[in-house]
Amino acid sequence: MRIFSGIQPTGRKHLGNYIGAIRQYVAGQDRGEAIYCIVDLHAITVAYEPAALRRSVYDTAAILLAAGLDPSRCIFFRQGDLTEHPELCWLLSSVTAYGELTRMTQFKEKSGQQRELVSAGLFFYPVLQVADVLAYRATEVPVGEDQRQHVELMRDVAERFNARFGDVLVAPEVRTPAVGARIMDLQFPDRKMSTTGGSPQGTVHVLDEPEVVIKKFRSAVTDSGSDVRRGPDKPGISNLIEILAAVREISPEEVEREFDGSGYGAFKQAVGDAVVDCLAPVRERYDPIRADERTIEGTLVEGAEKARAIASPTLAEVREAMGVGPVRPGG
Ligand code: AMP
Ligand code: TRP
Repeated sequence: MRIFSGIQPTGRKHLGNYIGAIRQYVAGQDRGEAIYCIVDLHAITVAYEPAALRRSVYDTAAILLAAGLDPSRCIFFRQGDLTEHPELCWLLSSVTAYGELTRMTQFKEKSGQQRELVSAGLFFYPVLQVADVLAYRATEVPVGEDQRQHVELMRDVAERFNARFGDVLVAPEVRTPAVGARIMDLQFPDRKMSTTGGSPQGTVHVLDEPEVVIKKFRSAVTDSGSDVRRGPDKPGISNLIEILAAVREISPEEVEREFDGSGYGAFKQAVGDAVVDCLAPVRERYDPIRADERTIEGTLVEGAEKARAIASPTLAEVREAMGVGPVRPGG
């Protein structure tokens, strides 16, 4: 099995990223050949500052390393170090349906948030994401629920390519966590927790101080009533139940049973405490890792070499199958 996922270097990583994606990346190292990439080429599709982008790449790399990515057990690199990703993006654009891109919900959301420019890059973003994964012929893509549509696009593009040009690419499967694939904002539980669209009090960051985390959970919006159980009329409590189940790695039913009759105050405190315990090791390891930029840079550059060794032969085969570029000897 080959696992591939990418994560944006923008903003501070939050509990949704941690539960939905980062924890799965760490576990993936024991389940197969794992490849993870920080997608700086995706980050430039919205307004950004070049110097801040470089810092954000290191921030994100340090969080992932602190969370347990081990460069000796996975390939960990920066997307922009390779030319293969944008090259494959272009080649695959010829088997990507324009109509499919117009239906991408992340594009609709993000284009609505832009103040100055909706870039063509933002529209093309899903094709680059398709290329990220198909370049490695990965079989599995661990992500949160919001990325499911992009992984479906990968499958469509791989299948269309293979039908048109021969069996070169692999259609990957999506892998979302059973619990916690869509963590909601603590203040607005009808919206997902997010870096760009969320509320400051409702977004728990991986690096938040313990007191800050506890405060955010104490002030989490609950619903009328006092039962700790899930339901469509109880989005706030349902979200907190999911969070506790995810961080403790138990089922939501077990959480409901444990907190039956205990009231919202005690429950919110328990969720806050559990999240603090879950994030503490990452926060403690982060500072020394982040302080050593040269080591981070070296790790990413080494990772890029390993990544290129896999992606480059795929590109050669794709070019050959499509009949573009120089003729390969024996091709
Ligand atoms: P991003 O920071 O947008 O690159 O997202 C990184 C990963 O976190 C992706 O796999 C997302 O699907 C996942 N993710 C983002 N927000 C949430 C959320 N609220 N709940 C669960 N997973 C999320
Ligand atoms: N678009 C993804 C997100 O917003 C990040 C991403 C880029 C990605 N390339 C990828 C995820 C490849 C999985 C596989 O979270």
